[in-house]
Amino acid sequence: MKIENPNPIQWQFSERAQQLQSSFIREILKITQRPEIISFAGGLPSPATFPVERMKAAYDKVLSEAGKVALQYGPTDGYGPLREWIANSLSTEGSRILPEQILMTSGSQQALDLLGKVLVDEGSRVLVETPSYLGALQAFSVYRPEFKSVDTDEHGLVPSSIAAVAEGARMLYSLPNFQNPTGRSLSLERRQELVETCARFGIPLIEDDPYGALSYKGEPMPKMVAMNPDGVIYMGSFSKVLTPGIRLGYVCAPLPLVRRLELAKQAADLHTAQLTQMVVHEVVKDGFLDQHIPTIRKLYGDQCQCMLDAMTEHFPASVTWTKPEGGMFIWVTLPKSIDAMKLLDQSLAARVAFVPGAPFYANEAASNTLRLSFVTVPPERIREGIAVLGKLIKDML
Ligand SMILES: Cc1ncc(COP(=O)(O)O)c(C=O)c1O
Repeated sequence: MKIENPNPIQWQFSERAQQLQSSFIREILKITQRPEIISFAGGLPSPATFPVERMKAAYDKVLSEAGKVALQYGPTDGYGPLREWIANSLSTEGSRILPEQILMTSGSQQALDLLGKVLVDEGSRVLVETPSYLGALQAFSVYRPEFKSVDTDEHGLVPSSIAAVAEGARMLYSLPNFQNPTGRSLSLERRQELVETCARFGIPLIEDDPYGALSYKGEPMPKMVAMNPDGVIYMGSFSKVLTPGIRLGYVCAPLPLVRRLELAKQAADLHTAQLTQMVVHEVVKDGFLDQHIPTIRKLYGDQCQCMLDAMTEHFPASVTWTKPEGGMFIWVTLPKSIDAMKLLDQSLAARVAFVPGAPFYANEAASNTLRLSFVTVPPERIREGIAVLGKLIKDML
């Protein structure tokens, strides 16, 4: 029997819910999923890199050999053998990471939310790069911090600018490798200076690192967590090195913090799927990533170079851009007179999409910036799309 509603509900959303905003990128993605659009807007990894057969075999093995455990509830902190594997992979000669410091999360996006929940009160000062990862700004915003921007230059975050905003800061959120959105990386000297500066002011330093393994050439840079495991909180993800659909990430933090994060996670979702964690452990435990990651690096490196070459050919001299050595993004700075939102209107009409830079700024935005992703677009379409953008920019000059 269907019950009538004589008194229809007048929804009263919490102040927090009223403030929630959809990520601008997710809105653009809805438009850009149409096949005729050449989309440089997405932040999605290339599906060509997903190890479908390897995952299938691992699901089969885990379900056949340990199905009853894999399908049961699991511990909040995560699947022990996978936490151990992660702790070993983060440990270096000089600094040992314990499995107890690792909390498995449902994507590293959940780690951002949990960090906001346990470290930020309304009005707490949170330091972020300019620009920064939009998803982190969105996650922290729920807890209503006061964002203070730390300066960046062409080499990334400028540690000497921290002193001016350090007072009372609850954390500094940093992206040292192939940053989303700019593709920039911090030099070794800057990393050391950043870790030292945060330690001097007693500010917890968050090192969000989903792209660190994706360097096109050369070895990945040392992790800041290895320089100061008592002051740095490291966030990792399997999204960009395996697949994002499994929603698996982790946070490595000093013990007092990780226990708080665990309590917050317990309240949020009890634990991350045990089956997924066991499958990922099965996939990674014998060194699969060592063969797999180079194939991702090669694909992304080639497509990045293709986009950089096309930009040199088609963009006017007054436009500048970053030259990433890894990761998934290029950051473009247009002449000040061009608003990237206006350019987007025109480029969507010409069937090319990108993300304007403004949403990546916590405070004052540079409206003449934009982010391009090259990883899901084949080379001939990259050239075609960049030629269209180059023409539109020239027409707006
Ligand atoms: C810098 C950064 N951090 C965190 C995330 C979240 O990734 P996931 O939740 O898939 O691990 C992303 C996703 O694009 C990202 O770019």
